[in-house]
Amino acid sequence: MQMSRSPAIRVVSPDDSNTPAPQQRRHAHGSAEVVAEIGAGLLAARPYISPKYLYDGLGSKLFEAICELPEYYPTRTEAAIFARHGGDMARAIGAGTVLIDLGAGNCAKAASLFPLLQPAQYVPVDISRDFLTEAVSRLQQRFPEIEMTALGLDFSNGFALPDSVRHGRRLFFYPGSSIGNFSPEQAVAFLRGLRDNAGADGGLLIGVDLIKDSAVLDAAYDDALGVTAAFNLNMLRHLNHLAGADFDVGQWQHRAFFNEEGSRIEMHLEARTALTVRWNGGEREFARGERIHTEDSYKYTRQSFVDLLERAGFSSAQVWTDPSNWFAVIHAQVTPS
Ligand code: AVJ
Repeated sequence: MQMSRSPAIRVVSPDDSNTPAPQQRRHAHGSAEVVAEIGAGLLAARPYISPKYLYDGLGSKLFEAICELPEYYPTRTEAAIFARHGGDMARAIGAGTVLIDLGAGNCAKAASLFPLLQPAQYVPVDISRDFLTEAVSRLQQRFPEIEMTALGLDFSNGFALPDSVRHGRRLFFYPGSSIGNFSPEQAVAFLRGLRDNAGADGGLLIGVDLIKDSAVLDAAYDDALGVTAAFNLNMLRHLNHLAGADFDVGQWQHRAFFNEEGSRIEMHLEARTALTVRWNGGEREFARGERIHTEDSYKYTRQSFVDLLERAGFSSAQVWTDPSNWFAVIHAQVTPS
């Protein structure tokens, strides 16, 4: 190994192990706001980091790998529901919508529904604009009759749609149970925001993960191959890059379990030993066994989610599930005022 003094490979010699390295030695690649956000989470009484930091380049690939795991049932269960009930969904929704795809990624899920849904305009929205632009240009060749308008923005904190999005009948598409990352209160606020952007004749087509045997849930978030563990631990590498932190991945372990009272999977990173983490502008000691909370993934019953939709201003819900009732795809319409 190269004995480098570069910030990426920080070699701590015995005599400088007690004196914190000067801040300039660690370079943060994230903006000042990002570094401040990460620092605030690490210094909280119950340390936490937003799950959005799970998705750097490698993290996105690890999530794709998770979706292929036998234990991770949501992706394939949702796909089976679309395959089996897509026709019914399309009849309920009708052709000619403005289809707004939240977290579109490679646009594959929505694209597989185009022949049934026949939208007039397709509006994929994702943080990663470059990725999106490439996916959309390929899709436009296959479906020249659909107008396509890609939006590169972070919609998690609410958003306004630009004028390029038509004011026809808008359908928000939010698959994959991504809504589970919000607490129920946050989910209501987020869905209200969609309702406000949808127009009086707007609607929502959403994927929701359902409460089930906790052994099934635990396995889905703590798989035998350790892919989810790698996905969770990779966040530490990302934080090293963004905040100039010095997390040693080997000193941490993946913890994931279903919290029955909270009706959510919780993911944490747990210190294997007493340690100190330093980052650009701060440091914190962790006791052995202390945790950083990295993700919540809320689970619902059909009825609890339909109730949540009502509170958000959506009604006339139609629910499609798989034979085991593990996952639901729900279509709802903006409640007439
Ligand atoms: C992308 C938020 C839907 O909660 O199941 C998968 C993320 N985390 N395994 C989920 C995730 C660990 C996933 N969502």
